[in-house]
Amino acid sequence: MTTIKLPQPHCFLHTFVTIENMRRVIPSLLLFLLAPISAYSQAIQYAPERKIWLLNTTHSSYAIGVNSEGQLQNLYWGGPLWRTDDITNAAQYRDLSSFDPHQMLENEEYPGWGGPRFYQPALKIMRANGDRDLVLHYRSHRMGQNDLEIVMKDIRDDIEVTLHYRVYPEEGMIRRYSTIQNKTKAPITVESAQSATWYMPPGDGYRLSYLSGRWAAETQLNREPIHEGMKIIESRLGHTGHNFNPWFAVDRGDAAEEHGSVWFGALAWSGNWRISVEQTPYQQVRVTGGLNTFDFSYSLKPGESLDTPEFYAGYAANGFGEASRLLHHLELMDIEPHGAKARVRPVLYNSWEATEFNVNEQGQKALAEKAAKLGVELFVMDDGWFGKRNTDRAGLGDWFVNKEKFPNGLNPLIEYVNKLGMDFGLWVEPEMVNPDSDLYRAHPDWVMNFPGRPRSELRNQLVLNLARSDVRDYIYSALDKLASDYKIKYFKWDMNRIFSEPGWPEEAPAEQRKLWVQYVRNLYDIIDRLRAKHPYLEIESCSGGGGRIDLEILKRVEEFWTSDNTEAFDRLRIQEGFSQAYAAKFMSAWVTDVPNMNGRSTPLKYRFLVAMQGALGIGANLNKWTDEDTKLATDMVTLDKRIRNTVQEGSLYRLLSPRMGDVTANEYVSQDGKEAVLFAFRHSQQYMTQVPPIGLQGLDPRGVYKLESIDGKLVSQQSEMSGAYLMQYGLQLKLTGDYDSTAVLLHRVQ
Ligand code: DGJ
Repeated sequence: MTTIKLPQPHCFLHTFVTIENMRRVIPSLLLFLLAPISAYSQAIQYAPERKIWLLNTTHSSYAIGVNSEGQLQNLYWGGPLWRTDDITNAAQYRDLSSFDPHQMLENEEYPGWGGPRFYQPALKIMRANGDRDLVLHYRSHRMGQNDLEIVMKDIRDDIEVTLHYRVYPEEGMIRRYSTIQNKTKAPITVESAQSATWYMPPGDGYRLSYLSGRWAAETQLNREPIHEGMKIIESRLGHTGHNFNPWFAVDRGDAAEEHGSVWFGALAWSGNWRISVEQTPYQQVRVTGGLNTFDFSYSLKPGESLDTPEFYAGYAANGFGEASRLLHHLELMDIEPHGAKARVRPVLYNSWEATEFNVNEQGQKALAEKAAKLGVELFVMDDGWFGKRNTDRAGLGDWFVNKEKFPNGLNPLIEYVNKLGMDFGLWVEPEMVNPDSDLYRAHPDWVMNFPGRPRSELRNQLVLNLARSDVRDYIYSALDKLASDYKIKYFKWDMNRIFSEPGWPEEAPAEQRKLWVQYVRNLYDIIDRLRAKHPYLEIESCSGGGGRIDLEILKRVEEFWTSDNTEAFDRLRIQEGFSQAYAAKFMSAWVTDVPNMNGRSTPLKYRFLVAMQGALGIGANLNKWTDEDTKLATDMVTLDKRIRNTVQEGSLYRLLSPRMGDVTANEYVSQDGKEAVLFAFRHSQQYMTQVPPIGLQGLDPRGVYKLESIDGKLVSQQSEMSGAYLMQYGLQLKLTGDYDSTAVLLHRVQ
């Protein structure tokens, strides 16, 4: 787990060693030691006379203040500070020219679009009379121990915005979102509703890291310089999306895995989102994120309000690795259902790649027997068990058991699976309907559509308009019935297409675009109600692979389906990108058969070790496995159970990136620092080159660790090594040929 580091006063201790000096120095030394601790223990400090707030975590501080005009400005975001006295007051600048007004030079914390402001605003509205000018000034604030709310108001009208801040002192993170309230007597239309604008320290030479991809190639890590202008990452697709993930990291162009300043954040929203990264001509680097402005319009009647998505952000002084560990820690402690009390993910078997739609009681039972022998703990039946679902052309929407495939319902299979010692999980895709289904024949109006226009099918299916309350209630009842009738531990909740023709004809034209937001809210509502009623239930968020991976859905699910691409070599990069933002525990990873995507065949051990860096699953056709495969798989599952606490809940160190060379290495260190595991993979050896020693991270240099190689690929003969040696020299591994792999377990003995 992430180590919490308070600033070390080592410089004092080294410099002043004489008794005389000590006498002079001790009082200030004590002050130095105590002041930061008391300051850090106070998550929010406030200097009322200067109207400055300082938000403190173990890893960062964040300061905002109000200038003489009432404008709220960002004053600082970076490493930990301990007193507000150091922070320069919020100022009012002078115009640089008639083309560079002072408003453009100021780091406004949550700018409305009004006056001469032409950067990306946080809020843009239109009044009923067409007036769109909005200038927000500080009005009041409320402070709790870790929470701050600042109320802003338009300089003329009762359009109010509350900025919500929550500090996670131990996790080193801050969360922001806003509530936009129409307190006027006339309706307004919100045209852009962002959660937050974040400012890097003034300067240039910054670099952006972000995750992009597509189906079967999700979460690819990109790094590029930030220049003047704007870069947008977003989803306009209705769900979080395969194309970009709502995560960013900004560094000064020189950060690496374990060094350098990194400002980073993740937006928590499973619908249309947008993050813009903007460098202005005035050395400002601003990151603004929230609801996508594309096709967006949200009317607020008098008294109504709109909450924007939550945006989590942090600062890490020690590189991208530390930034990821802070996010992982936050997810494990505060985001995932049950937080710190959640169980580690069990080993799962899923029949999809083995059987596709060809599921039936006998076939599933046969697979379940084989899975149980391997040590699998959760058996999941995928697509094909319901309605007339023999191909992807029919059945979606008809959530009743197919009697030809399961003549006695699901209970005989579930009981069998339970008797074998496994929990039972079931695939569902509740948001969708095939035109060839009883549901669609009964309710053709339930899909999103523009009347008289084509209804574009993707994978032969249409999207139900979940924004409608009758559709929401139908889906809830169907799932509630399944969870009530059967002992289902786990739903694999799939969503296999993007939106099209997002019409909501039953609503007035001015209200119809609320669909983008209401759909997502109702999705959350269904899951929240289901989980409240069925506390036993767990959920996997799948959207044709990794199309719905974000922090807001993570509050409601135990795992993400990372990608439909289960080809182990491709997975190394998908997993590297995933790990930037999300902890290993949530990364469902299966071992499947070869040849797989790309026509590639990798050894079974390699496939297992790749998948064991997340929540291990098996998706192969076990009927085709040889005795040798079964033996190896059983050993690997046993190994996984020994190391999964360390992998899923420990601290990740990405030692060698699959983007950089032919060796990939990742290390996980347990929360208590007593266990660690190193995974290493070789793509293709050339010229008989040996793998250089791999330096470990996150160990105690004074500690001694017993080494346990899973396969004798450790070059060193020493069975124990110090943390100092392991981190400074490293471990040498014998990885040869193509797709070689190994793992080394480290147990602290001193
Ligand atoms: C897409 C998912 O990502 C797959 O794992 C599988 O569940 C199929 N859908 C089933 O249709």
